[in-house]
Amino acid sequence: MKVTSIVGARPQFVKASVVSRELRLNHHEVLVHTGQHYDSNLSDLFFEELDIPRPDFNLGVGSASHGAQTAEMLAKLETLLLRERPDWVLVYGDTNSTMAGALAAAKLRIPVAHVEAGLRSYNRGMPEEINRIVADHLSQLLFCPSQTAVGNLKKEGISEGVFEVGDVMADVLYHTVHHTPVIAEPMQRFGLKEKGYILATIHRAENTDNPQKLKNIVSGLLSLNEPVLFPLHPRTRKALQNQGLWTKLSADDNLIYLIEPQGYLNMIKLEQSARVILTDSGGVQKEAYWLGVPCLTLRGETEWVETVIAGWNVLVGTDAEVILEQVRSFKPPEQRPQLYGDGRAAKRCVGLLSEFQVNVYN
Ligand code: UD1
Ligand code: UDP
Repeated sequence: MKVTSIVGARPQFVKASVVSRELRLNHHEVLVHTGQHYDSNLSDLFFEELDIPRPDFNLGVGSASHGAQTAEMLAKLETLLLRERPDWVLVYGDTNSTMAGALAAAKLRIPVAHVEAGLRSYNRGMPEEINRIVADHLSQLLFCPSQTAVGNLKKEGISEGVFEVGDVMADVLYHTVHHTPVIAEPMQRFGLKEKGYILATIHRAENTDNPQKLKNIVSGLLSLNEPVLFPLHPRTRKALQNQGLWTKLSADDNLIYLIEPQGYLNMIKLEQSARVILTDSGGVQKEAYWLGVPCLTLRGETEWVETVIAGWNVLVGTDAEVILEQVRSFKPPEQRPQLYGDGRAAKRCVGLLSEFQVNVYN
């Protein structure tokens, strides 16, 4: 079986690491990097740390508006897929690379499989929601991390080819959590103690590109009066600079520690050692749950509703007072049931790809 896997952004490298390893045991994988993320600490570092094979092709698409970026991916992927003639195109998550991969393949009538299918925020203001809907509706195999995701697809009339396999990000975390550094470098750099700081990540367009929301989040962080370690996505760094928030946030007289984007192993260690995590990331919400770290999500809704239902994640939005109040008072329950699978999702995905393979070229 020949599978062309398409990745392009940070969380996709994490997800693809385990599936790629599993695929290559018995099958032929052609790995395509669209080039959506290109900074070494958003891309190369993940390939090195997670031992991901070098991409067979890098399309070098880079940053652009949604339309221009997706269009360039589509054109380049079409040429590549016509040449490669894979049995499956495998796409991950909900980025522009996901949508472009699914669309390019579907137009060529190449079967598409979607890892992390069925997630919904029910907020079409998010570019990711559009990407997920398109990818799911074009896929022949839909690998869901939860029953909620299976139910979301059913509501849209998709029930064929849908399988609850668990979450491949859980596979990655369970396999790597024992290989993280004893102390992550930024903790040493700033003298931060185990459970003695808050870890923050923000990159969602609805937060970075909305000046009022970003200002509120910054006010919230500054009001906390305890150390906040804040790895900055380049999008967030630029937004803080453009919106006049940089000087205040980076001043020496506060407890905010702005750092570069972290590699996966350091990041997991930083999550594990944090007292509380403040985030708008999808992946980080789940990792906080698996690691047993209380999470406050800087959004009005989440796709990972089970973490909220379990009482370990609270949707705090972007109001500075609510953030402060919740950081001070939030206590999750004792119990933390297993969510999103047992760490063997990748194995199931590859088994299903093999089981449902059809010959489309004869
Ligand atoms: C993308 C995904 C988002 C995902 C996130 C993971 C879409 C629509 N969004 O958001 O779902 O959660 O990746 O991190 O696909 N930039 C750099 N260096 C890079 C990459 C980007 O400086 O290597 C800067 C550029 O200014 C660029 C901006 O970040 O314009 C945004 O990058 P883009 O890939 O469009 O979206 P993300 O915000 O990274
Ligand atoms: N991550 C990382 N370094 C960072 C921030 C995030 O390694 O500085 C990891 C994080 O642990 C998770 C993944 O990147 O595995 C999540 O990616 P991101 O937050 O960019 O995207 P999302 O999950 O929101 O789509």
